[in-house]
Amino acid sequence: MIKVAIFASGSGSNFENIMARVNDGTLSNIEVTSLVVDKKDAYAIERARKFDVPIHVVLPKSFESKEAYEAEILSYLKEEGVEWVVLAGYMRLIGTTLLDAYEGRMLNIHPSLLPKHKGKDAIGQALESGDTKSGSTVHYVDSGMDTGEIIEQMSCEIEDGETKASLESKIKAIEYELYPKVIKSIIQ
Ligand code: GRF
Repeated sequence: MIKVAIFASGSGSNFENIMARVNDGTLSNIEVTSLVVDKKDAYAIERARKFDVPIHVVLPKSFESKEAYEAEILSYLKEEGVEWVVLAGYMRLIGTTLLDAYEGRMLNIHPSLLPKHKGKDAIGQALESGDTKSGSTVHYVDSGMDTGEIIEQMSCEIEDGETKASLESKIKAIEYELYPKVIKSIIQ
């Protein structure tokens, strides 16, 4: 089993879905060693309490630099023997400290059909631009914002009268299928 850490900043529903797929045996290739969170009120922390998984709340403001912040995270990852990192709603650019250690072994999921609509509020961007399709992309992480090599995408229609909430729930449903599928095939 490959040791994986999951990073989240917010709700953590993708994190919870991955944990459920580990527990039901779908993701028998990985062991989740910990959840890393950069916000003390992230709901992902509540979700993690349901599982037997350590939670590292590492707050960037407590460090004098991004390097020092990431070095603290890296020390946990090393201690746990983490081989791959899975970003699941982690809202920060990855810096050189973590990239030097994990580039090529770090995945992210983004709620758009990249390369369209990078960055924040990708769902709002898709609606505003009048697209008729949206979806989700899993990609490798590099130093840019959602710029890493694309691994796999799944799409959905944007229908008449679609709202941000309705599109978000469609995309989340896609993500709960897509992310475990890619994690299973790529993390070996
Ligand atoms: C997901 O839509 C993911 O694509 C994006 O952030 C969202 C995280 O949602 N990177 P959740 O915290 O997993 O519910």
